[in-house]
Amino acid sequence: MNVDLYERIWMWGVGAMLAVFFGSTAAAAVMSQIHPPSHIETIDPRTALSDPRFKHQGVRVDASGRVHATVVGLMFTWMPTELILPADTPVTFQLTSPDVIHGFEIVRTNGQAMVVPGYVSQFTTQFAAGEYLVACNEYCGVGHHTMASRLKVVPKSQWQAPARETANVQ
Ligand code: CUA
Repeated sequence: MNVDLYERIWMWGVGAMLAVFFGSTAAAAVMSQIHPPSHIETIDPRTALSDPRFKHQGVRVDASGRVHATVVGLMFTWMPTELILPADTPVTFQLTSPDVIHGFEIVRTNGQAMVVPGYVSQFTTQFAAGEYLVACNEYCGVGHHTMASRLKVVPKSQWQAPARETANVQ
């Protein structure tokens, strides 16, 4: 079969591009622990704010000592607007939205999830000590650009597990 020179160049070019795309996806998965979400849990968006899973937002430690962060995204804020977390400790985030799709992005980390009405998004990650900006990376309306919050990650020795009462930032 005769393949024209230019066609051959383009074929190899496309092949090389595909190799780069798949390679970078694989590298992100292996080296940066970036994975597609695999958690499927539904919720009624109309009652999300009174749902026992999301009635109280903020940080809590469960009976087995794992740290959870519960966050609601709604036009145009994250609730709560600040989370204080321990460094180098796995934190499981649970997120939902009562209105439209938002994008929870902890800037310059691998912590990121779409926040979709009707679903509970979940991911687990950990952070080095420092301050992180949480942005909304999914256009959600006129106030989209103002939708941000903060993550304060403190050394584990300085972190105090919030008491059940103070953990619940309403
Ligand atoms: Cu919420 Cu953009």
